[in-house]
Order: sequence, then structure tokens, then C-alpha cells
Amino acid sequence: MNNPFRYGIAVDEPYFIDREQEMRDFTKWLKSGQSLVVYSPRRYGKTSLILKVLKNLRKEGYNTVYIDFFKVNSRRRFAEMYYSEIMKQMPSWEKALKKISGLTKKIRPVISLDNQGLPNVSVRFEDGAENEDLSEVFDLPQKLAERKSWIVVFDEFQDIARLNGENFEKELRASVIQHSKVSYVFMGSEMHILLNIFTHKNRAFYQFGKLYELKKIPSVILVEYLENGFNKSGIKLMPGIPDKIIEICEAIPHYVQYLASGAWEEAQENNCILDEDVLENAIARIIMNQNDYFMMQYEKLTAHQQRVLLAICEENRNIYTTEFAERFHLTPVSSTQRSVQRLLKDGILSRNADSYNFNDPFLRLWIRKIMI
Ligand SMILES: Nc1ncnc2c1ncn2[C@@H]1O[C@H](COP(=O)(O)OP(=O)(O)OP(=O)(O)O)[C@@H](O)[C@H]1O
Ligand SMILES: [Mg+2]
Repeated sequence: MNNPFRYGIAVDEPYFIDREQEMRDFTKWLKSGQSLVVYSPRRYGKTSLILKVLKNLRKEGYNTVYIDFFKVNSRRRFAEMYYSEIMKQMPSWEKALKKISGLTKKIRPVISLDNQGLPNVSVRFEDGAENEDLSEVFDLPQKLAERKSWIVVFDEFQDIARLNGENFEKELRASVIQHSKVSYVFMGSEMHILLNIFTHKNRAFYQFGKLYELKKIPSVILVEYLENGFNKSGIKLMPGIPDKIIEICEAIPHYVQYLASGAWEEAQENNCILDEDVLENAIARIIMNQNDYFMMQYEKLTAHQQRVLLAICEENRNIYTTEFAERFHLTPVSSTQRSVQRLLKDGILSRNADSYNFNDPFLRLWIRKIMI
């Protein structure tokens, strides 16, 4: 029997649940030419959702491009990936090459075949120095669009900062602002960087797209998914376990699937029974397996940041009050504020309406187990 839970990669059916409203809204907006800026903390399911939206749009005859900026480390790499994605939308790469070559002068696509005969796209910069402006690359979807618009997704868009930041940003903006037949989605998990790009008046992308914060998946839907997964694969599930998994993982989709997957494996070794003890063992195993990683993250912090983190493990509300400062020996409050700012920036914590939460619930458990 295969493990019914999946994590670590973008998921599709049968591991993909919920998001119906989001899929309807995104589809509607993108078809109507509305560009979007989609953000959430890490591992809420942005990539899975958008890939599914793109898949559905392709079935309706739309052309789509998906670029993960995490993989883009140069202007050249961007052009190669962009051409390659665009070519995938065309009936054959020979036709695609002809078409793109006809529309580009300064940055030409070059196709070579790998040892399995599959096409590999590289580019030739006419100036030889990769300084050409990229407008003819950016403009391709607009030029290729016929009746239906093209949909272009830039995932992990905050990483654009690595490409000499604002120049690339300005060039991109100068092109896309003129594209009437392309809808863009900019996504990312480093929310402060992303929001900076789109909400600051002096930035190139000020108010370019509709801001959309992706939320967690509702717990009732997660519970049903967990019950189904365990029951159908022959695991005897004790009452309350799915709720416990969701609570521990703070309903973050990735961690719910991660712990469920670990619990499923642990149950296999316990006569296919999943009770509280088996769940505890699964948690202990996850924490132990990540010990080195957590240790490394923790060691990178200053002593003060470590103390703030220990305190937030115990109490995550009203952290800037004198009560909190006295209880955890953290004076003055301004130092706590500075440490928290850093922890937010480094992606260790995130701020909710009235509380501060660990982005990785297992880091919190590790700290409680090892450090407190
Ligand atoms: N709709 C969903 N249904 C069930 N599980 C999901 C769903 N979306 C995401 N997940 C779980 O979360 C994991 C991470 O999803 P995904 O990579 O799409 O998130 P992300 O927000 O893009 O993360 P990152 O911030 O790391 O890029 C998946 O591997 C899966 O375990
Ligand atoms: Mg992602």
C-alpha cells in the first residue's frame, strides 16, 4: 500500500483538496485580463494552486508560461527559460523555433538536442555580453497572442532582486504595462519583499496587479482528507487524531501532509493502528530527523533572538507588554521588537492578527523539546 499523503512538491489530484473558490476567482480574473499578486507564508499551497489553474486554462485553449524565479540566476537563464516555456505551447519545436526567430533580433533562440533527442533551448545575445535589453523576450507572449490571451506566472517573484534588482524590474515593467493580451501572476512567500515591490509608489510595479493573500485550507476539509487517506489505506484511526495533526501543524497544508505521511509510516509498524502514542512517535521521529537542520538555524541567531524565540514558544500574544518582558526577562521592549523584526525577516516567524507564529511548527516543537 502506498502512502496516501504527499509533501515536498506541488500536488495535484488525488492529493490536492479544496481551493475551489480560489480556482474559480483566479480563472475568471486571468481570463478577463486582470493581473494578480498572490502571496502567503511558505508552504500554504501557492504553487500547487496556480499550476492547477494553468492546467485548466490550457484545457480551455489558453497558452500559459510558468517561471520559477528561484531558478533564474541570470538574464540569460531567464531568456532561456522563457523561450523554452513559450515553445512548449506550440505544436512542434521546429515551428516554435521558426516563429520565435522571426520575432527576435537581439536575443536569438538556439536549439540543440540532448542525447535522448530532446530539444534544449539556449540563447545567443547579439551583443555577446548579455547586456541587451530583454524587451523582445518579455514581449513575445503579447506578439504571439491571437484570440485568447496568454497567462504568465512568475513564482518566487521576490527573487527578482538577484537580477540586479530594480533594473530588471523596470525593464520588465516597461514591457508588461503595454501587454493587452497577457495576464500576469506574481507570486511569492517573502511577503514584505513582495508587498514592497507592488505597494510602494516609487517602485516600478506600483499597483500593477490585484493583491490576493492565499489563506490556509479550512480544518473541516483537512479532517475529511486525513480520515479518507488513513481509512482507505487500512489504518485504524483513533478518534481525535486528525484534529490533533491539524492542531500541531497549525493547519498549514504542507505540514499537515508531512505529519500525516510520517504518522502513516509509523502506523505501518504498529499493526496499522494510529493512536496518540503512535502519533507522538511520528512527531519525535520528524524532530530527530531534522535535528541538525534546526540546530543550524538556531545557532545562526543572536543570543537575544534565541531568548525571544524561547519566550514566543510559551506565549505568542501581547509580546510587547511589560508583563511579557518581565515574565521572560526581556527588557527593554524595544530590543524584543528588533529581534522579532529580524525573525520575521528571516522567515522564522510570521505575524497574524494578534499573535506571532512559527512558520515551521516543528521548529517550535524542537525548541520546546531540546532547549526548554
Ligand atoms: N490544495 C492542496 N491540497 C492538499 N495539500 C496541499 C495543497 N496545496 C498544498 N498542499 C501541501 O503543501 C505542500 C506545499 O505546497 P506548494 O509547494 O504548492 O506550496 P507553496 O505555497 O508554493 O510553498 P513555497 O512557499 O515553499 O513555495 C504540498 O507538497 C502539499 O503537501
Ligand atoms: Mg511555491
